[in-house]
Amino acid sequence: MSHEDFPTDEPAVVTCGLPYANGDLHIGHLRTYVGGDVFSRALEKLGQQTAFVCGSDMHGTPIAVQSIQEGVDPEEFALEYHEQYQETFPKFAVEFDNYGHTHEETNRELTHEIVRTLEEKGYVYEKEIKVAWDPAEDQPLPDRYVEGTCPYCGAKARGDECDEGCGRHLEPGEIEDPVSTITGNPAEYRDRTHKFFEVSELSEYLTDFLDRLEGTANARNQPRQWIEDGLQDWCITRDLDWGFDYPEIDGDDESSAEDLVLYVWVDAPIEYIASTKQYTERVGADTYDWEEAWKADGEIVHIIGRDIIQHHTIFWPAMLHVAEYDEPRAVMASGFMTLNGKGFSTSRNRAVWAREYLDEGFHEDLLRYYLATNGGFQQDVDFSWSKFRERVNGELVGTVGNFLYRSLLFAHRNFDGTPDASVSAEVEDRIDEAVDAYREAINDYSIRKAGQAAVELAAFGNEYIQRNEPWKLTDEDPDQAAQVIRDCVQVAKALAILLEPLTPGKAAALWDQLGEDGSVHETTVEDVHAAPPETFDEPAELFEKIEEDRVEQLNEKLEARVEEATEDGDDTETESDDTGGDQSGDMDLEPLVDDRISFEDFEGIDMRVGRIETAEPIEDSDKLVRLEVDIGVETRQVVAGIKQLHDIEELPGTKVILLANMEQAELFGVESNGMILAAGEEADLLTTHEDAPAGTRIQ
Ligand code: MF3
Ligand code: ZN
Repeated sequence: MSHEDFPTDEPAVVTCGLPYANGDLHIGHLRTYVGGDVFSRALEKLGQQTAFVCGSDMHGTPIAVQSIQEGVDPEEFALEYHEQYQETFPKFAVEFDNYGHTHEETNRELTHEIVRTLEEKGYVYEKEIKVAWDPAEDQPLPDRYVEGTCPYCGAKARGDECDEGCGRHLEPGEIEDPVSTITGNPAEYRDRTHKFFEVSELSEYLTDFLDRLEGTANARNQPRQWIEDGLQDWCITRDLDWGFDYPEIDGDDESSAEDLVLYVWVDAPIEYIASTKQYTERVGADTYDWEEAWKADGEIVHIIGRDIIQHHTIFWPAMLHVAEYDEPRAVMASGFMTLNGKGFSTSRNRAVWAREYLDEGFHEDLLRYYLATNGGFQQDVDFSWSKFRERVNGELVGTVGNFLYRSLLFAHRNFDGTPDASVSAEVEDRIDEAVDAYREAINDYSIRKAGQAAVELAAFGNEYIQRNEPWKLTDEDPDQAAQVIRDCVQVAKALAILLEPLTPGKAAALWDQLGEDGSVHETTVEDVHAAPPETFDEPAELFEKIEEDRVEQLNEKLEARVEEATEDGDDTETESDDTGGDQSGDMDLEPLVDDRISFEDFEGIDMRVGRIETAEPIEDSDKLVRLEVDIGVETRQVVAGIKQLHDIEELPGTKVILLANMEQAELFGVESNGMILAAGEEADLLTTHEDAPAGTRIQ
């Protein structure tokens, strides 16, 4: 990958997948928005000029269907949710520089311009296709108006997407055994003429693009496979009343596209550009120039749920390329989110709603911290109130809060603020180390690691103050006491700066406690060594412990609610809005195995800590990788089915768990002598969390 490290001299655009304006937000949805907000703030911290933009996705069949059900105009229906989102995001300190929506004029103009360019450049053609039709209602059934069977994997699927099976985007007419979701009637097929964008012509470009693309590995590996399987052209129109009209094309009077609208996935990502443009219109091109960002090599970073990888790594870059806009630099695709190990379910009221979280009186930063650091971005993350409590009490209260309170209180009482001494070389170095780790984490697109860099600095602070015992020094050696506390105050200031992207409200409070003027939001890592003001007031504790009975109450509330909703039997009606704008995804967990095994049986399983030495793809196989794993006593050759799920170059050095007495096998002619353990569909590799050396037995 050939990109220069952040911060660069070009403006960056950070976007989050546009939420469909058709349902209430729960904390599962918030994961990508918080992730985007943390990432964009962190880029700014590193000194990168950044615009953070998003908007509501107003078009598409789910909104058309739901507004009909509620008997209101689709625009009015969607605007209501749009306004709700606009109010909700800032309550979680998700502060977009511009939050627009797709039904605005700026977006219509840009969309029409881009589609015209695709036409002019000869990438669009008309084709007669069979579309699903409801014979009773005599109307076409685009996308989610129809359900049936996925032609690729046989799963039950919606008209445009195999959401419970292989995840593929489905073209109109592809779904088998279609049934109308409006009337429940079996659908017929009728011939209609539609517009197609020749994505198949762009395989070569897209292959190269994926080689340049940064972000999470899942956003490169899945599309590589799709390209290998052969790309299809993409139908960009729909038989629907709701959406942008197909633009008029000069010299094409006979087009049958007149009564068609553009497919929602054409104009939705273009809103990323439109929203940036609106931002420029508000602040002026001297402050932020959208054209420089989108047409002259800006750093475009898309943060999305993994269910929409295909749109962001195939269709979208294909459009941008033909229309001569910049391509994305990175796509970060998040894993799913579960609640107590099970999927969120709007219909069963099995969710922690955004509003509910705030009503419980928790500070938004606690949730931000949890969502951003609980797992790697592409990993699935589970939320439970008890884990939430654990993280808050352990890391925010125990490590960060504890260090800040004890050192600032000591500083205030004994020195009325920052002691008159200069920071020791040890502490300056340690702060630099934290900033380096932070910068590296962001260049790795890991907001979790950025958070860790900050929390580890606080842990260092605690260790430092404990080791130097300034409370003993105040009488014996006041200069030395001043030195230790001076160091701690500097660590506190560096922490305020590094924590701001994650916990902006708390970081601002800390900034105040340090007596700093101005805003920590606007301060960059350049300032980590600048001295804080000489005096400051008595600090207050930044974080509060969550008691255990609080967690019990919250769990009871959730259970009672789920029970009530299930009793109401209203299980079906809103199922679609879970999937509609849902970037959190649902996850089906396998039932537990009832048969127990004995301890002796377990002892017969020889699992060892291993370290991957080498990793190389096995040619001719889509999935398999040949690994050499050091397990202390010897090195094992193992074949693992993880090709598409991990960046192979990054595997060497990874610690894994190996089932050493697995029977030997031969796969694609390669002998496999053991099995590495991994969790779930994403093959999340099991590892150890401390430093158990290679060869250690798992017991
Ligand atoms: N509304 C879509 C969804 O929730 C996301 C649109 S993202 C964009 O799945 F790229 F189109 F903007
Ligand atoms: Zn499928």
